[in-house]
Amino acid sequence: MKLKITGPRPLYGLVKVGGAKNAALKIMAASLLAGGPCKLMGIPQIADVNTMAGVLKGLGATVDFHKDGSIVIDPSGVSKLEPSEELVIRMRASIQVMGPLLARFGYVKTRQPGGCNIGPRPIDLHLKGFSALGAEIREEYGYVSAQASTLRGAEILLDIPSVGATENIMTAACLAEGTTILRNAAREPEIIDEQNFLNRLGANIKGAGTDTIKIEGVRELHATDYTVIPDRIEAATFMTAIAVVGGEACIENTIPEHQQALIAKLRETGVEIIEGDNYVIAKRPWQKRLQATNIRTLPYPGFPTDVQPQFVAAMSLAEGTSEIIEGVFPLRFKYTEELTKMGAKVTVDGKLAVITGVPALHGTTLEAPDLRGGAALILAALAAEGTTELGGIEHIDRGYEDLPGKLSLLGASIERINGAKKRQAG
Ligand code: EPZ
Repeated sequence: MKLKITGPRPLYGLVKVGGAKNAALKIMAASLLAGGPCKLMGIPQIADVNTMAGVLKGLGATVDFHKDGSIVIDPSGVSKLEPSEELVIRMRASIQVMGPLLARFGYVKTRQPGGCNIGPRPIDLHLKGFSALGAEIREEYGYVSAQASTLRGAEILLDIPSVGATENIMTAACLAEGTTILRNAAREPEIIDEQNFLNRLGANIKGAGTDTIKIEGVRELHATDYTVIPDRIEAATFMTAIAVVGGEACIENTIPEHQQALIAKLRETGVEIIEGDNYVIAKRPWQKRLQATNIRTLPYPGFPTDVQPQFVAAMSLAEGTSEIIEGVFPLRFKYTEELTKMGAKVTVDGKLAVITGVPALHGTTLEAPDLRGGAALILAALAAEGTTELGGIEHIDRGYEDLPGKLSLLGASIERINGAKKRQAG
């Protein structure tokens, strides 16, 4: 499958953001700790959710998808303690089942998740946390296991405020004996969401959203229903779409508090942002060029790395030169090779990208290298003159609930086409 995109056309209208991918996947994994079936709502209908459902079913849990978009996970039948190797390789977030399996069964074994197009993705901090809680870690032949008859609370300091490590250690510590203090923890809103879910199961966790999280081990956990928070990266993608393409959009089901770093930067470029209680309005007069500005991506509440590609697409059409420092995943610039095919002027040197804005981009044939790079290429193609054929949209469908469909509701000329090679005539 490919996308056929024709520009330039401004975007106007109202768009509703779905549930957060990066909260939903972790809360689905954490439901393995529950004492019975959990009904999860606000779960986005994306490929990664189906993959996580496959991981949980492979372990012996049941996962039922309901017409209203909710899913019910019953972990009581879990009997396998090794997530599917194929699914771990397909989706790194599969390793978030490690903490819950270790806490509940005292054992987990998994394939080391590979790196991906945004760089190496080690799990050393996850393992350091499990080891501090008393687990014996074995790493051999590309596999890693953690084993512990009893987990005991510990003081843990993360070298890097890793989102995944924070979440895996939080779930592993829930049933440990005693208190765990996790320092230099990641502060993302999705971690607060997971703390809230775990506490609804009967856990005793405080401090998520700050750099110190305290987990008091409890003896058992029960079941709960839960609704995940909106996807702040999807919302950010639509805000940045207005920056790239021009027009005006009301982005509903958005928590402005989660968007402050992006909002500040968009305002620097000349985009007008109005913050509502559960929506954001972004405006940029059609064909008025933005001003260039610099960003450095950082862990939350800094500028989000997951919006860096989309923001670079906006800067490629701005007046002036921008410097982008990728402070989280230094190799996250692969998509810029495709942007330059459209006429963008981008030079990359390690974790620094320098963009010299051009007055126009032109449509061409492109390949999306990863999820957020793919989203950036869609936005660039919407602003470019002429037609773009974009391949690799399976990356985009992993993490966005029908991004092309939502953009076409805002007036974009974007359609899915069968990517099969056109048969030669005659
Ligand atoms: C989560 O990935 C998100 N994924 C990513 O979103 C997001 O970019 C990232 O957090 C940062 O916000 C999900 O939640 C499913 P990290 P995660 O551990 O947990 C290094 C998207 O587009 N590190 O915070 O894997 C790591 O290499 C995705 O939705 C170690 O060195 O990110 C990176 O440089 C992409 N050792 C930095 O920390 C470890 O043990 C931050 O990674 C773990 C991480």
